[in-house]
Amino acid sequence: MSNSSRGAWASRSTFILASIGSAVGLGNAWRFPALCAKHGGGTFLFVYLLAILAMGLPLLMMEIAIGRRMRGGVVTALGGLNKKFEPIGWAATSNAFFIAVYYAAVFAWVILMMLNSWQFAPLTGSPAAAGALWTSLTRTTETTSGYGIISWPTVGCLVLAWAAIWLCIRKGTDSINKVAKYTVLLPVLCLAVMAVKGVTMPRAGEALHQLFVPQWAQLADPKLWIDAFSQVFYSLSIMMAIMFAYGSFLDRDSNIAADATVIALADLFISVLASIVMFTTMYGTGLADKVASLGMGATFKVYPTAIVSLTESGIVNALFGFVFFFCLFTLALGSAFSILEGVSTAFADKFRLEKSRCTAVLCVVAGVLSLFFTCGAGLAWLDVVDNWCNSFNLILVGVLETLAIGWGFKTAKVLKEINRNAKSFHLPAWWFNASVKILSPLLLCLFFVWNLITLFQSGGIYGAAANYSLLSNLVGGWGMMAVVFASGFIVRLVVRRKTKKGFVESHVAWDDTEE
Ligand code: PHE
Repeated sequence: MSNSSRGAWASRSTFILASIGSAVGLGNAWRFPALCAKHGGGTFLFVYLLAILAMGLPLLMMEIAIGRRMRGGVVTALGGLNKKFEPIGWAATSNAFFIAVYYAAVFAWVILMMLNSWQFAPLTGSPAAAGALWTSLTRTTETTSGYGIISWPTVGCLVLAWAAIWLCIRKGTDSINKVAKYTVLLPVLCLAVMAVKGVTMPRAGEALHQLFVPQWAQLADPKLWIDAFSQVFYSLSIMMAIMFAYGSFLDRDSNIAADATVIALADLFISVLASIVMFTTMYGTGLADKVASLGMGATFKVYPTAIVSLTESGIVNALFGFVFFFCLFTLALGSAFSILEGVSTAFADKFRLEKSRCTAVLCVVAGVLSLFFTCGAGLAWLDVVDNWCNSFNLILVGVLETLAIGWGFKTAKVLKEINRNAKSFHLPAWWFNASVKILSPLLLCLFFVWNLITLFQSGGIYGAAANYSLLSNLVGGWGMMAVVFASGFIVRLVVRRKTKKGFVESHVAWDDTEE
């Protein structure tokens, strides 16, 4: 396939904006502030910064550089370095696919709340009723029972969510080029509005103190380190097939060292801005102790109680509610379409499929699967799948990918590609090598084992996350993980059979004459 038909970024800023749009997502809006609250504010920020330097930046640059050099999605790119690495590419792709499936369900809930934000007006002064709004709209049971309960409004919003995702990527980069800036500028605008409101509320000083002033004693807590490193991983959208794809649409003369630094800093900035909003709003409405509990489901229940206590005026509160959920909408959209684009690029490049058809089919398949999460038991299952995707699959893909590239390929070649057009800032070799060869595989391995031990401690010999049924853990956890890591071998079997019938798979190689 020629380069032009694979798609290309309209400009340097489009690539940067699309990558920031992928990086900033729901993770910035509620995971990051919750982790700050849990781990002593500034202490978490400090370790998070260390994690960006030690792992985030080098790995982000590495993925973009390999994608650009190999001109292919994650499977083609990794397989091009060494055929044996291809299953790692498939593991990243299938894990990304599962993330896309449940992320779309959360996205649908965000749309549902956005469209219902007018309901906050009459609920002003009744926090309990506002907190119950999401549950009554989605009819979720928060347990692994209630499969037969269906909320039609949620189903409708899920259709809207997928339509929005498909619209943004239906023509690959041609359509992303048009929407990239909105998925960054709009959320920043909304966050800025909410931050102004937040810092003018009572107890704002105390909130900012909690957020920024470190409590160094917390550094001794290993969970803080795991959470910070995992959050960097999740937030920068690495090991998710995305950055290979986005890198593959880049021009050879782009400056990866500089661009990736801008992307990581912008992501950090938006996380901190979102934390200022969350901390000041929650402190200002007397919910200070609830910041740490914000998460996938909790935000939908806890934050509305703050919304209806913001001011005395119902209309103003409803307006803030809308701004908040609209902000989440724009944040989630850029991430959701990027992950599908990553999966679609991986498939289209590997099997020489027509990209737009591939994207459409993937949206339909993932869309149908995501329907499951809208049933009563959906949130509980989502919790299990989310936990497994992030605490196990993502980390294991990270271990394999860094080991493969660090020890099974030449890091010097990758580094040269990263620094190809670097001007004032070059990524030094010691930094890159220490990260890719030693720190990343070692730390990620440790985190994986730690998470596994935690799982067995809380869930007994079956390794079932507490509170949820064995079935959900076996299927949504272990089963899904097995599919992710077996996917490369399953695909190989299928390809082998098709090859006998004349199918020729695409293969690229790192061409050393191209220097
Ligand atoms: N960086 C995203 C976030 O913080 C993570 C993500 C990316 C999730 C792409 C899904 C798809 O929300």
